[in-house]
Amino acid sequence: MYILGIWDGHDAGAAIVEGNRIVAAVNEERLTKKKLDNSFPKNSIKACLEIAGLKASDIEHVAATTTEFTKTMERIFPKSKEYYYYFRRRKMLRPRFETFQHHLKYLLTSFGPLPFCKEVSEAILRKQLRALGFKNFKIHFVEHHLAHAADAAFASPFNKALVITVDGLGDGVSGSVNVFENGELERIEAIPAVDSIGIFFEQVTNIVGMRELEDEGKVMSMADYSYPFNFEENKLKDFFKVEGLKIKAKYSPIAQYDLLSRIAWSMPREQFAYMAQQLLENVLVKFFTNAIEETGIGDVAWTGGVASNIKANMKIRHIDKLKRWFVFPHMGDGGLALGAAFYVNYELNGISKYLFNDVYFGPSYSEEEIEETLKKNKNKINFEEVKEPAKYAAELLKKNYVFWFRGKMEYGPRALGNRSILAPAGDEEIKNELNLKVKKREWFQPFAPSLLKEDSKKVIKDIKNRSDVDKFMTMGYFAKNNVANEIKAVVHIDNSLRPQMVGNENKVYRELLKEIKKENGIGIVLNTSFNIHGMPIVCSPEDAIDTMLKTKTKYMIIENFVLELK
Ligand SMILES: [Fe+2]
Repeated sequence: MYILGIWDGHDAGAAIVEGNRIVAAVNEERLTKKKLDNSFPKNSIKACLEIAGLKASDIEHVAATTTEFTKTMERIFPKSKEYYYYFRRRKMLRPRFETFQHHLKYLLTSFGPLPFCKEVSEAILRKQLRALGFKNFKIHFVEHHLAHAADAAFASPFNKALVITVDGLGDGVSGSVNVFENGELERIEAIPAVDSIGIFFEQVTNIVGMRELEDEGKVMSMADYSYPFNFEENKLKDFFKVEGLKIKAKYSPIAQYDLLSRIAWSMPREQFAYMAQQLLENVLVKFFTNAIEETGIGDVAWTGGVASNIKANMKIRHIDKLKRWFVFPHMGDGGLALGAAFYVNYELNGISKYLFNDVYFGPSYSEEEIEETLKKNKNKINFEEVKEPAKYAAELLKKNYVFWFRGKMEYGPRALGNRSILAPAGDEEIKNELNLKVKKREWFQPFAPSLLKEDSKKVIKDIKNRSDVDKFMTMGYFAKNNVANEIKAVVHIDNSLRPQMVGNENKVYRELLKEIKKENGIGIVLNTSFNIHGMPIVCSPEDAIDTMLKTKTKYMIIENFVLELK
């Protein structure tokens, strides 16, 4: 039985599961080129059906999520959703009533689902699906945090685990504590939306002049440029407290926003970012510690937008009583389509475990399709087919950055060796070129490495003998002092890093790292997502070539083709 999951909000997308297999999963932004697209995911649905080899009329069960008041209103008035998209991304001059608009947002989003919401949402989604050719199907709604929790629990390697979700909000909830045991997921606590630590961090992001729901990671990186404070000196320290399994906010979201703005006004933004990050880490460590102690379960899986904060994840990883950990790689709302499909597959078929060895669930392209695209561009690009693309890339990577495109596109925010830009891990000059000329990012944003799984201990100092093998770039670590100097392009100012530890899940990428190891002694490379800043990761060969031309990049490898700009 095929189940289609859909999500039509922030970072919309679709996914198809069948049995204990993830057949396809894609986000709308990759297909529409509108980063974190929040429209109805019609392109993702079509792409998933194509990957699965199905027609719309073959699908009998659709899993949807989130029927809160604001989401339902957005379904009724899609223009309001579009307006918020451009407002949030600051694709306009600052509106005169910007503060009022934020207040309104915090007020309206604190409502959970109201009685009419589900029926209205279902009627609208049904109509949209019918327009795509769906015929006899049932729509099942999965509550927002249940969809998040299903992602973390069912994709984790654990049979018994503590499952924690923390995000901005969804369906009136901003976090949950769950126990996953004997294939069943039971919620033991929910944090109300008004106590959201995710909204707190979103507000901080906004106040330091960045885009909420998008640039929270930049705030985290910027925090490391502040001089350190004791927690006692932290002006935000009493904004939240943790009591048992509850996180409690001192202020309402509106009062909090105003007070944060006033505090931020009195200090440089890196200090403000530092205080916010420190508070977040403090709250999460207490919250997770309490949950581990209360349930007595040391294997923890977590997700939700806040789980993208790898520095906070690192602090959680170091909790003494935590045994093994798993962070779901598509932690934001972009992962909800899969989580909803997971949960409905559990309800209908009792399936709550998946083979989750990689995240290559997106479209791929045949040699013929690629060659055809290359021929169209032959006046701008030279290309040839090679037998060993990994070897070829390793040679180029001695002195260049290289665009690297293979196989199925990654699901989630990280490029993991199929749609990646690669560069030497020790070359700061190339790193700066990448940052400023190619990707056009802020100067303080660090790059991350991919490294051979077996070389992790050579590079990282705080690996413990637990589950510290991260295939998905979801966790922060510190580099060993003697190695940090050799891999300057992939460590942050404090020598922290967010590695992808590559095992057998990506064979050709692994070969490439092994080639690099022959030269340097460590199989490591700078790996950043294949996109220009502000754009989604590329999906098709056309997108890739377009990006190559726009950035005047000299080398790209698509499958077995080596491309050189003329
Ligand atoms: Fe969420």
